[in-house]
Amino acid sequence: MKLGVNIDHIATLREQRKEDDPNLLEAAKTVLSAGADGITIHLREDRRHIQDTDVFTLRKHVPRLNLEMAMNESVLSIARQVTPDYACLVPEKRQELTTEGGLNTISNIEQLKTVVKSLQNEKIIVSIFIDPDLLQIEAAKASGAQYIEIHTGDYANCPESEKAIELKRIAQAVVFATSIGLKVNAGHGLNYHNVTAITKIPNIEELNIGHSIVSKAIQTGLSEAVTEMKRLVLAAALC
Ligand code: PXP
Repeated sequence: MKLGVNIDHIATLREQRKEDDPNLLEAAKTVLSAGADGITIHLREDRRHIQDTDVFTLRKHVPRLNLEMAMNESVLSIARQVTPDYACLVPEKRQELTTEGGLNTISNIEQLKTVVKSLQNEKIIVSIFIDPDLLQIEAAKASGAQYIEIHTGDYANCPESEKAIELKRIAQAVVFATSIGLKVNAGHGLNYHNVTAITKIPNIEELNIGHSIVSKAIQTGLSEAVTEMKRLVLAAALC
């Protein structure tokens, strides 16, 4: 099972000041050298974190780039120019804090067929982010996409007593998807407590994880960051 790391929230922090700090490319290199198999970014319609220039820059340096995006013409046009290795089609709502669920492949099937084809014409491998629902999976297959990414948010957010039911839904979805020739990734809401159960489900190729990793990086790196600043502050006082 591969690990794709979503670095959107490093860009979220940068956008608070609109300065190049933290530097996204440096962060991507650190993530890859720590063992991640790929980098995932979501170019949102409102550009709240990842910017167009990030996509072009990362494409030059990242060997396995996964671009999450809505079926929005301006973002599609960038995807076709940049040609990431993978594109993951997601639903997007203006007011949401993060992606709130899978794309409805059934109601969007005609648009999906067109978009999937246009990305595949540029040799981009296409995935669709969907809930673990068999009818949604069937429609994803009909759209021509090679992959689905199963939305694990319901599993991540449900009470402990319902975890087994949600895990079973995901496992059944993976079995069905692979039986009709789809490759399967999974992600959303996965963290250091809930990921292990997901890793036990056979035939998931990659997990895409963002928030919990960036959050952990802050927790584990905070002490070192303060120590270094304190050293500089004390050094200045001695002069
Ligand atoms: N996969 C998809 C399709 C997503 O939209 C997101 C969130 O951007 C993730 C995975 C990662 O989710 P999280 O940040 O909760 O780990």
